Parts: sequence; structure tokens; C-alpha cells
Amino acid sequence: MSIRRATTADLGAIMTLERASFPTDAWSDAMMREELSSPHGWYVVDESAGTVVGYAGLRAPRGSSDADVQTIAIAEASRGRGRGRALLTALLAEAAERAVKQVFLEVRADNPVAEALYASEGFAEIGRRPHYYQPDDVDAIVMQLDVRVWVHARAGRTAETTLNDTGAERAEAPESPGASTPADGDRPKSDAGACT
Ligand SMILES: CC(C)(COP(=O)(O)OP(=O)(O)OC[C@H]1O[C@@H](n2cnc3c(N)ncnc32)[C@H](O)[C@@H]1OP(=O)(O)O)[C@@H](O)C(=O)NCCC(=O)NCCS
Repeated sequence: MSIRRATTADLGAIMTLERASFPTDAWSDAMMREELSSPHGWYVVDESAGTVVGYAGLRAPRGSSDADVQTIAIAEASRGRGRGRALLTALLAEAAERAVKQVFLEVRADNPVAEALYASEGFAEIGRRPHYYQPDDVDAIVMQLDVRVWVHARAGRTAETTLNDTGAERAEAPESPGASTPADGDRPKSDAGACT
């Protein structure tokens, strides 16, 4: 697995995955190209033996304390092996690097796999947008993550893994990332709509 920054040269490979992963509401080539070249965006691809098997994008305008997970997808044959989590981790690490405080996203209410991934990293539901996804007429669950809590929890997990690997005494359980209480407030509306 190798995660690297995406460029517009990856557009074709990304769009193949986009259409396969979001058959009814895929972004257009033009939208994705704009995302990849936007100064406010930060997109990565996951390559395996030179083939792009996943991609994910963050919208994090420089200087803003808020960011959005725009999209994330892994090729069907490569799912269930930790790649989706690795991409999400890359986005959140970049958000932390940019001093982002809150990360927001929208996920279809009929996508329990993605919702479980987000919840396991500490995202909490803060609201719903009824009928947000068309033409399927599916609600969006709006989720929010406190980046500082995520960084703290991740450091705890890493320390625990290191101690376990060396056979040392088990570290104190890290603070659950899901235990954060998200602040109130509307999420900023992104240009493209977050997480197709
Ligand atoms: C959502 C998606 C990116 C997850 O990627 P993935 O590589 O399969 O996920 P991972 O292997 O990293 O698993 C991460 C977590 O997701 C959840 N998950 C993954 N596969 C699951 C399954 N079959 N059933 C339930 N939960 C599942 C689990 O919480 C898992 O954590 P765990 O392994 O500790 O139990 C992938 O399923 C995908 O591309 N789906 C289609 C596109 C999509 O829906 N994107 C999200 C848009 S908001």
C-alpha cells in the first residue's frame, strides 16, 4: 500500500473508481478535476503495484479552522483490508497539520460501512439533511470530529501498540475519540458537496 498526493494526471483512474463506487451520484470529470486542482483541496490516492485502488479528498482552506472530508473510496476488490481507514487517517493527519479544529462530512444514511469507519475514528453525528442525496432520495448524516481529540486518541493508540509489540505492560486505555462533545454550529457548505 502506498498513499501519495493525487494530481490531475490521476483523474482517469479516480473517475473509474468514482463511477463504480457511486453509481447513482458520481461527480462529473469536471467537478473532480476542479477538486484535484483547487488550492483548498488535498487529495490522495492509494496505489498497489502501480494501480490506483483508492482515493480520498479533504477540503481545508488555508487559515480556516474547519475542513470537510469530500470523498473517499476504495476499489471493491481491495475493501475490508484497512485501506479506507489508512486514507481517512491521511486526511485527518493533514487536517491536524493545517491546524484545523473541526472536520465535517456527510454520509448517506444507507451506508453503514462508511458510517462505522467514521464513527470508529471519533466522528459523531450532529444532524441530518433529509433527501440530500438525489436521485436516490436518501438522507445525509452530518458528522463532526474534534481534531485535537483525534490526535490525542491516535497518540494513545500508537503508544499502546508499541508497548504491546515490545511485550511491555499494557498502556492505559486511550481516551475514546468518540467521547468528544462536538461544538454546536453549522458546517460550512463546500462547493462540491461532501462525501458523495
Ligand atoms: C467506505 C470505504 C472507503 C471503507 O474502506 P475499506 O478499505 O473497505 O475499510 P477498512 O478495511 O479500512 O475498514 C475500516 C472500518 O470500516 C468498517 N467496515 C469496513 N468494512 C465493513 C463491512 N463489510 N461491514 C461493516 N463495517 C465495515 C469497519 O468499522 C472497519 O473497521 P474495523 O476493520 O476495525 O472493523 C469502502 O467501503 C468504499 O469505498 N465504499 C464505497 C464508497 C463509499 O461509500 N465511500 C464513503 C462515502 S461517504
